[in-house]
Amino acid sequence: MTPAPGPLFLDGSPAAHEALRAAVAEVLAVLAATDDRGPFPSAGAARLRETATAIEPLPDDAEPLGEVLADVGRTVLAHGARVTDPWCAAHLHPPTLVTAAAAELAIAATNQSMDSYDQAPMATYVEDRLIGRLNQLIGLPATGSGVLTSGGTASNLLGLLLARDHAAGGANLSGLPAGAGRWRILASAGAHVSVRQAAAVLGLGRDAVVAVTTDDDGRMDVAALDRTLGQLTQTGAVPIAVVGTAGTTDTGAVDPLAALADRAAAVGAWFHVDAAVGSALVLSDRLRPLVAGLERADSITADLHKLWWQPIGASALLVRDAAALRSVREPADYLNRTDDDVLNLVDRSLDTSRRFDALKILVSLRATGRRRLAGLVEHLVDLAAKAGEAVRRHPDLELLAPPQTVTVLFRCRPDGVDEDRLDGLNVDVQRRLLASGRAVVGRTRYRGRVALKLTFTNPLTNHDDVAALLAAVAAEASAGLEEAAEEAHAAPTATRGRRSRRVVGRDRKPNGAREASLHGPID
Ligand SMILES: Cc1ncc(COP(=O)(O)O)c(C=O)c1O
Repeated sequence: MTPAPGPLFLDGSPAAHEALRAAVAEVLAVLAATDDRGPFPSAGAARLRETATAIEPLPDDAEPLGEVLADVGRTVLAHGARVTDPWCAAHLHPPTLVTAAAAELAIAATNQSMDSYDQAPMATYVEDRLIGRLNQLIGLPATGSGVLTSGGTASNLLGLLLARDHAAGGANLSGLPAGAGRWRILASAGAHVSVRQAAAVLGLGRDAVVAVTTDDDGRMDVAALDRTLGQLTQTGAVPIAVVGTAGTTDTGAVDPLAALADRAAAVGAWFHVDAAVGSALVLSDRLRPLVAGLERADSITADLHKLWWQPIGASALLVRDAAALRSVREPADYLNRTDDDVLNLVDRSLDTSRRFDALKILVSLRATGRRRLAGLVEHLVDLAAKAGEAVRRHPDLELLAPPQTVTVLFRCRPDGVDEDRLDGLNVDVQRRLLASGRAVVGRTRYRGRVALKLTFTNPLTNHDDVAALLAAVAAEASAGLEEAAEEAHAAPTATRGRRSRRVVGRDRKPNGAREASLHGPID
């Protein structure tokens, strides 16, 4: 069937606005129809890949939008991770604010490009204003500046680029100086992997990042930092940057930022803080002291698609001195000319074309308000603390690090199971919960052992949800042990390796959605 011709572009005509309204209504309908599902598809990766392969993304002729969306709803959207489910709790991967999601439409429809004033006149100054307000909230001086990026990884890269250029004495015009092979970046052993990745991209090499030991709480150990700095200096290495983390990915630990700032200043190193998680704590008067010292950073990663509930991507790289950003400036005759007397944000960015993400941030922050956002962050920090207590009390679970922000790191440790079997058991628990689509629980390694992780980013999650999830995790471990015992007992050779697919603990969680009707066969 040939679809009725309609406006292809948003050309400002009433017909175009009507077409957009109708298309949005269809998108909303398919979103509503696919929202009644569990946290993860149970179809399995092979099945999903097969279904994706069967999709023709570029047919020769148009298909009616309604049909496309109905098909996409059934085959694609119904099989996504559902971040609004309280049992979708593995990653720093939150649900988004309604107002921010709605404002995404205005970003796409108006398509401002943040590289230059002549492509984004008002948007340019709005982003600059937003950056200024974030800096003020954190406590950076009026000399500060910054730019939005696509995520925490991109913000860390830009922050460390500024650190590298600071060490080099300015913009990178002729490559790294001769002594750059001795440059080192100090970050805690719990720092995000993007720090090492940035060092590689910046030509310093991954191993330029020296991992500083953490204390029992997962925070950088200041005595160890002092020792490491001493050893580096003795061997002729040059510490060019100290990276603090305000909210590590696995334990949620906040490094002692003020002490790190002192050490960085003492050796003339750049002080970057990865506050991808911890930046949101400054929203709350109660939690702000946890990140004391953040305001002393030279550069800060504030990831707004984590605990600020923005749709991906939305992150900021904030700097204490606007002059530092000059090192990324590359004037082009067609874009950011040297004679321009307006702000061209490409002068601060590693991107050229860039979305007007500041709009959704500004709209949703205004429409929510700082106090309410602070309450949401406080709820999640309290939830993690309570979850930590519940783990401590549970006879079959072991807390591996005290919750400090929104993360609880633990493992299943049923009585009588040898240490050497625990890693395999915990791997199995996480895999089985995911494969059945019932729960997305994090899995990582902590101090050499397999660890499970709950990360609370969904403010709608309550303690009953968490208690039920912990019970399901423990039940899965018992079932795994039982099955292993049965298999070993029943047919020692014949059935070995044939793992049963039995799933236990199927009790409904208090606040969760029903298993999706669309989780059946994908057609
Ligand atoms: C501490 C920290 N920094 C940086 C990142 C990377 O952020 P993104 O995924 O937005 O690139 C993460 C991701 O979880 C993180 O936990």
